[in-house]
Amino acid sequence: MPASSKQNAADLFRFEWGIYRKLTSTGLFGHVEVAEVLEREISARFPAPFSILELACGDATVTSSVLSRCPVSTYRGIDLSAMALSLARSNFAAAPFPVTLEETDMLAALSPENTGPVDVIWCGLSLHHLPQDEKRQLFALARNALRKGGMMAVYEPVLPDGLTRDAFMARMAGELRQAWAVLAPDEFDHMWQHINSFDFPETLDGWKSLGLAAGFAQAQEVFRLTGPMPCSFLVYEAGPSH
Ligand SMILES: C[S@@+](CC[C@H](N)C(=O)[O-])C[C@H]1O[C@@H](n2cnc3c(N)ncnc32)[C@H](O)[C@@H]1O
Repeated sequence: MPASSKQNAADLFRFEWGIYRKLTSTGLFGHVEVAEVLEREISARFPAPFSILELACGDATVTSSVLSRCPVSTYRGIDLSAMALSLARSNFAAAPFPVTLEETDMLAALSPENTGPVDVIWCGLSLHHLPQDEKRQLFALARNALRKGGMMAVYEPVLPDGLTRDAFMARMAGELRQAWAVLAPDEFDHMWQHINSFDFPETLDGWKSLGLAAGFAQAQEVFRLTGPMPCSFLVYEAGPSH
């Protein structure tokens, strides 16, 4: 794992989690809609108990709420931040299913020696931190870790077609400051520094191709948050064969 990933996770929790929570709790990342879509996509496929692995679970606010209404057999959440996992532990305190929380890296968590077969893999707002070759590895490992009929779901920022990352960042800088007026100027500056250093969004076709190249049978966008930082919820079907 590159030092930047560790630095990213550590910084996020030490300095930025309160700022991030301001954005999520005021709906600026569409988490109400994301929860609805996650529940709908899971319920449509898994009427019977299913296992779920959440990558970069953070405090698991969305997932702990959604899964309280689903027939979960086991939940495993992984994150690089011990502080995140401690908040996630509290959020899952009343869960009626076994919960495992591990302080580890996403790629390591998915390696065949560290994971058994699982029905659902879910990751929100975290894969865009990886460089492209690590995104490729992650999708390949996720595809291998899924059971027949399994699903991977991700919710990630999308690079608009026809823009380079640099042009996108330049356009976003001013627009986001306005859209995120709930943040104090120094909070925005801190968040912007993080985005500018660590965010590597793919185009919608790029996100789909990562899954299809890894052997997923289908990749479909099922929800899009519009605005200066568009984010897509994508579902990847493992398909009938393995
Ligand atoms: C923007 S937060 C998203 C949290 C949560 N998934 C959500 O949607 O609210 C990013 C999370 O990714 C974690 N993280 C960053 N790099 C990671 C890595 N390589 N492996 C595991 N977790 C990582 C951070 O600690 C943080 O909890």
